[in-house]
Amino acid sequence: MTEFDKTRWSAKDFAYEYLETADIRILERRRLLEVLKSFYRYFLGDKQQNTVLDMGCGDGILIHELLKIDDSISATLIDGSEDMLNKARERLAGFKNIHFIKASFQELLYKDIPLPDFGFVVSSLAIHHLAMNEKKSIFNYIYSHLREGGYFVNTDVILSPTEALEKWYLELWKEWIIEKQTVLKLESKYEDIISKHTEKEHHSKLDILTDQLNGLKDVGFKDVDCFYKYGIFAMYGGRK
Ligand SMILES: C[S@@+](CC[C@H](N)C(=O)[O-])C[C@H]1O[C@@H](n2cnc3c(N)ncnc32)[C@H](O)[C@@H]1O
Repeated sequence: MTEFDKTRWSAKDFAYEYLETADIRILERRRLLEVLKSFYRYFLGDKQQNTVLDMGCGDGILIHELLKIDDSISATLIDGSEDMLNKARERLAGFKNIHFIKASFQELLYKDIPLPDFGFVVSSLAIHHLAMNEKKSIFNYIYSHLREGGYFVNTDVILSPTEALEKWYLELWKEWIIEKQTVLKLESKYEDIISKHTEKEHHSKLDILTDQLNGLKDVGFKDVDCFYKYGIFAMYGGRK
């Protein structure tokens, strides 16, 4: 089993650098959040007091965005990094019914951490750190913590199905970063994000979209699809 990279995510500089640059490094980050909110409104918005779980919550941005459209949500945020959870606590300080759990995905799988069932499970840019068999175990874990009819949506970095496509997607990503830097009049210091992404340790854990969609179907999810895709960034999920 892959270990949660505590050193990396507990290093304040690393975690904070991610938070500060998320809108630059993630292709159409704001659009992705709007798609997630549309999904919520369409599939869950007619119910009251939905229970939502965020796996690898970081500073809590996903839950915050969902609370903006439905403040009756009761949310549970899980992350392996105490620093990230503290950021999330700060961000969501004004909201009620918010629970924080410090645990890695590995601990969720192998320790008995009690969790209720949820109507909606979300995750963003966290599950790609797991190898494919571990991704499947986490999909299975999520499935078993969803109510009947509940949904799971993951936004994540994926491996391209061919080398030629991977090269273009990385070029597309670079063009996005340069465009953002230019609009925001920033010094060009973000392009190394791409070289870090292609480092073996990080890149070797990524999996192609088809395998992840099949992984969801294998554990029992229905209505499985990719809801949004732009280069190496994809939003996909399904219903229990
Ligand atoms: C790139 S950040 C994304 C944060 C947030 N979801 C967002 O979209 O901004 C990844 C987060 O996942 C957490 N994470 C990564 N691997 C994890 C694991 N195995 N178990 C628990 N949390 C993990 C990190 O601590 C970090 O907060």
